[in-house]
Amino acid sequence: MRYLTFALGKGRLAHQTLELFEKIGITCEEMKDKDSRKLIFVNEDLKLRFFLAKGPDVPTYVEYGAADIGVVGKDTILEEGRKVHEVLDLGYGKCKMCVCGYKDAAPLLQHHELIRVATKYPNIAKDYFYNTKHQTVEIIKLNGSIELAPIVGLSEVIVDIVETGSTLKENGLEVLEEVCPLSARMIVNPVSMRMENERIKSLLTQLRGQINL
Ligand code: PRP
Repeated sequence: MRYLTFALGKGRLAHQTLELFEKIGITCEEMKDKDSRKLIFVNEDLKLRFFLAKGPDVPTYVEYGAADIGVVGKDTILEEGRKVHEVLDLGYGKCKMCVCGYKDAAPLLQHHELIRVATKYPNIAKDYFYNTKHQTVEIIKLNGSIELAPIVGLSEVIVDIVETGSTLKENGLEVLEEVCPLSARMIVNPVSMRMENERIKSLLTQLRGQINL
C-alpha cells in the first residue's frame, strides 16, 4: 500500500484537523511535538504522511500531486483557483468574506462608483466586483492588516475575512456587503481521487460521521 499524503494549512486549522482525525482513529504523535523542526510526519501503521504548509501553498501541493489530500480555508481555494476537487466542508473555521468600510462608503457600492478596493484576495475581489456586481473598481493587493486601508485613505472599501467582527468594530468599520461564507474544506488531487478511490471514500465517510455543520 502506498502512502497517502496530507498537506495541512499551518495554524489553528491544522490543530482542528488533527483533532478531527483523532476522532476517527488517525493519529500522528510526532506532529504534536511543538519543538520539533521536522517538516513531514508519518503514521507507519496507517501508511499516512502529513506535512504543514502555508495556506496558499496547500492547493499547489495538491494540484501537482505532491499531496493527495489538503485541508485549507475556502478563501484560499477560491483565491488560488487550482485544479483540485473540493470534497468536504469540515465545518470549522467558519467566517465570511465581506466588503467592509465606513458606513458612508455604502452609496459608492450602490451607485457603482469607480472606487479603490484593498484586499489580500485580489481574485475573489475581482470576481465579486466584475462578475457578480458588474462594478468597475481598482483592486489594490495588500498582505495583512487590511482594515488599515480605509482608515488611512488608501481605499474606500476592503474585501476581507470577518470572523467575530471585532477588528471592524474596534476600528469604526462595518460589513457593507457579504461576498460568501467560508470554512475549512478538504481538497483532493484528481488523479489520487481515481487511483486511491476506496481509501479516500472510506476516509470521507468516516469524517462525515464526525462533522457538525
Ligand atoms: C483576519 C482578517 C481580519 C480579522 C477578522 O486577519 O483579515 O483582519 O482576522 O477577524 P475578526 O472578525 O474576528 O476580528 P488575521 O488575524 O488573519 O491577520 P491579517 O490582518 O494579517 O490578515
